[in-house]
Amino acid sequence: MGTLPLGNDNDLDDSQFYNRAEEISFISENLELTKKGSTPTILLTGIRGVGKTALMKKLKKDFQKDGYIVVYMELSGMNKYKKDSLDRFCFMKLFYESIINAYKESNILSINTQILKYIKTRNFKIDKISSFEKIPIPIITTEEDYSKFAGFVMDLPQMIYDDFKDEINGVLIFMDEFQILKQLDEDVNGFLWYIRSIIQSQKNIGYIFSGSMSLKDDLIADIAGQKGAFGGRILNYEIKRFSYETTKNYLNEKADYLNFTEEGFERFYHCTKGNLYYVNSFARLLPPNIELNEEKVNSEFDKSLPYLVIHLSSEWYKLSNQEQRIVIALIEGPLKRIEIANKLQVTSGAIGSSLKTLQNKMLIEMDNNKYQIYDSIFKAWLKKEYREKGDYPF
Ligand SMILES: Nc1ncnc2c1ncn2[C@@H]1O[C@H](COP(=O)(O)OP(=O)(O)OP(=O)(O)O)[C@@H](O)[C@H]1O
Ligand SMILES: [Mg+2]
Repeated sequence: MGTLPLGNDNDLDDSQFYNRAEEISFISENLELTKKGSTPTILLTGIRGVGKTALMKKLKKDFQKDGYIVVYMELSGMNKYKKDSLDRFCFMKLFYESIINAYKESNILSINTQILKYIKTRNFKIDKISSFEKIPIPIITTEEDYSKFAGFVMDLPQMIYDDFKDEINGVLIFMDEFQILKQLDEDVNGFLWYIRSIIQSQKNIGYIFSGSMSLKDDLIADIAGQKGAFGGRILNYEIKRFSYETTKNYLNEKADYLNFTEEGFERFYHCTKGNLYYVNSFARLLPPNIELNEEKVNSEFDKSLPYLVIHLSSEWYKLSNQEQRIVIALIEGPLKRIEIANKLQVTSGAIGSSLKTLQNKMLIEMDNNKYQIYDSIFKAWLKKEYREKGDYPF
């Protein structure tokens, strides 16, 4: 119904993408510093579904139009290179592929000869170069090859800039789904420091890291905290939910067939809290051209819950029994680790890895030494299941 984007469509066209004027101008001003030879690094945080990816894709298009090469990389793509373990090498291959794609999108020069030139300057053995879609790729067999390749890939953006600075305005690297790094089967912090050491020596490359992280996530501290790899040299910028007014104007403009009463809209905002994923998903499920008062919005919300949490309920069913029981223990409110353990009648040590898994999946988060359920709509769904079926879904 209507033109509101689907909750999982984050590649929005200009008629769908709403507002974010302040965020765009702030981030753009910083990224444009690359022209002046300073390397801005930005960490975009924000709750799940708030619109980080949609914003980055919008920035990508805008900057491309403005003569920048924009490398957009979704770290979940590393998995396709995974053999035995998820390691730095998967990251480097994905980065390489993403740079090539950006290069192709930019229409500058014939890329294969250019890349071959870079490869040659790096002393890769020529018989160790294969190609993919005509793009040369060094073949890696030894540890030494790997570090050569890693250095080569990490330096590529600056090499491209140096060669084309008369034709382009800059090179920007957007890394989304950054939280996937937590799944690396190796020392994540060490890897972050490695990335930082390279970035530090570059002059004209702008970076944005973003991903679904709880704002209390350790990864944020590892990246941007005082002792973090990028501490003091990264801009930590939070993408906020839409305010009451913005949400109201948004729906007035894009979904004028929704006839909210004042209280009905208050209820809508209370349910979605201005989180764009929920705003769009719920608004698309509401009936058009009838009065949406408080009661109607409430009953529609209740009906919609299973659809609104589909991305989370699918995670829920994959959890272990202990993990599910921990989530249930938190339904009535936040608890300390020992309190959860007591409820489950196990030792505190026995729930350590379950807690970590749940945190990594962003189903729970820790605040002030207490664990709590991350998403209130997910919690509402569990409660509804219990109310209607007499038990939680297992
Ligand atoms: N500026 C916007 N205008 C309209 N709709 C938006 C906007 N930004 C995001 N959305 C909607 O919200 C949904 C979620 O956005 P997006 O995927 O960008 O969130 P995210 O913060 O990247 O989430 P995650 O943390 O899960 O990666 C999008 O699919 C889209 O429907
Ligand atoms: Mg995203």
